[in-house]
Parts: sequence; C-alpha cells; structure tokens
Amino acid sequence: MGVGTSQPTVSSIPQTPGAICAPIRFARKMHDMNRLSGKTAVITGGATGIGRAAARRFIEEGAFVFIFGRRQAALDAAVAELGPNARAVKGSVSDPADLDRLYEAVKAERGSLDIVFANAGVGSQLRLGEITAEHINETFDTNVKGTILTVQRALPLMGKGGSIILTGSSAGTTGAPAFTVYSASKAAVRNLARTWAEDLKGTGIRVNVLSPGATATELAREALGEEGMSAYGSMTPLQRMGDPSEIAAAAAFLASSDSSFMTASEVAVDGGLAQL
Ligand SMILES: NC(=O)c1ccc[n+]([C@@H]2O[C@H](COP(=O)([O-])OP(=O)(O)OC[C@H]3O[C@@H](n4cnc5c(N)ncnc54)[C@H](OP(=O)(O)O)[C@@H]3O)[C@@H](O)[C@H]2O)c1
Repeated sequence: MGVGTSQPTVSSIPQTPGAICAPIRFARKMHDMNRLSGKTAVITGGATGIGRAAARRFIEEGAFVFIFGRRQAALDAAVAELGPNARAVKGSVSDPADLDRLYEAVKAERGSLDIVFANAGVGSQLRLGEITAEHINETFDTNVKGTILTVQRALPLMGKGGSIILTGSSAGTTGAPAFTVYSASKAAVRNLARTWAEDLKGTGIRVNVLSPGATATELAREALGEEGMSAYGSMTPLQRMGDPSEIAAAAAFLASSDSSFMTASEVAVDGGLAQL
C-alpha cells in the first residue's frame, strides 16, 4: 500500500454474506503452482469433503493421489471427477489388512510414497451422561487407532522429504457442547504429531496437524442448510464457515517443501474460532 493511501476501516470492508466467494476465487487464481510435481500422496477419507478437496488440489499441483475410504460408490464418483492421476482403494483405516492392500497398491504402481494425509474421521454428538462404550469405540477406532495405523503402515514407503498431515479439529482445543468423545479423539491426534516428530528424528519426514473449524462440506450443507451454516459461521471472527478448498490449500502447503521447517506443528484453518 503506497504512502498516503488510507487504510481500510472496519466499516469500509464489505460485510456481505457472499464474502465467502472472495478468498476462494483468490485461492483459485493463485495456486497455479507445481509444488507437488512427481509426488505420490495417500489421502484417507479422500472421496468426500475435505479429503476430496485436498485430492483435487494435490493433483492440480502435480501429485498422483490414492484415495481411501469404505464406500465404493463414493470412491468411484471421486475418481471419475479427479481424473487419470487418481486411484481409489476401498477399506477402513481401522483394519490393518485393508491398509496393507492400500500400501501394496501404492508400492506396485508408484514404488514409494511422499505424502500421507491421514484425514478420515467420524464424529457425532452425545451429551455427558448419554455416552456409550460403542460411541467411544467407534470414534476412537477411526480417529485415533485409524490415524496411528495409517501412518505407521505408510512409513516403509516413505523417506527424506516426506510429509505426514493429520486432520485435527478446532474441537480438539475448545470445549464444544456434547462433543466429549470427538474432541478428546482430536486432542489425541494433536499429540500424535508431537510424539512422532520425536520418533521420526533423523528420517527427514515431517509431521503436522491441520485443524479445520466448521467447514461447509457437502455433508454439512445437507445437514445444516444455508441457515444452519450461517448460524455456525457466525460463531467465528470471519463470520462464515470455511470452504473445503481453503482447508485443502493449507494441506497443499504442509505437503510441499514450502513448509520445510515445520514439524510437530498445528495449523488452524478455522476462521479464528479456536484462537480467541
Ligand atoms: N467438516 C468440518 O466441519 C470439520 C471440522 C473439523 C475437522 N474435520 C475433520 O475433517 C476430516 C474430514 O471430514 P469431512 O468434514 O470432510 O467429512 P466427510 O465428508 O464425512 O469425510 C470423512 C471421510 O472419512 C471417511 N472415513 C470415515 N471413517 C473411515 C474409516 N474407518 N476408514 C476409511 N475412511 C473412513 C469417509 O468415507 P467412508 O464413510 O466411505 O469410509 C469420508 O470420506 C475428519 O477427520 C473430520 O473430523 C471436519
């Protein structure tokens, strides 16, 4: 900004509900980059939502991407959209045999692996007093056990320059009503990166957590509707929900050498929700 140019004031900044479009258009314009050229990535939960947006972004930046999830129809639809640099393997992150098939497919076609985005996750609400053993098992099986197994079984294919990204959540930091089990599972994910940065010393592999706030995935749109989304969004300083492409942009940064001096960190992409 040049000398004498006036700084924008709060009242001069457009506050329209459609403001969500501006950063997304900006991101589309600015990511004409090849930071992931030649790299191979695995994205769990890559058929939908944040994972699918990340798969799209990684491929746009030059990567070859394997997506992994339990529903064949969702995987097929994603691969049809993502194009020739995408493959799908069906399975569950909490089943070691399924993960072995995933990494065998990666090894057979690509030989090695550069990026793991351990993103598959589930979460539902139950108030304290209503929590069941099944609810705890289901949530921790995917979010914690699944994340650990996904990363551990990827390591034999990874080496110097590798990047591991774990999907956390703003809920791992804040208290959110009825989110005891989900929030605890994401707090656990936050610690995995701290511990693994120690365990990975000397390997040249980095590990970081990407923590979205409320994000307007297809599922969220269906579940909340425009009114519900705007109510959720109004809780953040930016007064809107995030778009999956905005989480994907941060994932591409963490996957690339642009974040080469980052490990054990948490990157919050939450409109400020958990930062106040
Ligand atoms: N959207 C948000 O507001 C928000 C906020 C903070 C954090 N997050 C986190 O972001 C991540 C992605 O969620 P999303 O919002 O994009 O929702 P989503 O569209 O429901 O994505 C979750 C993905 O995980 C897959 N998945 C679930 N359990 C799995 C399992 N056992 N094995 C393999 N894949 C499994 C699902 O596919 P299948 O069902 O076909 O297996 C689905 O593709 C999750 O970790 C979530 O906790 C989301």
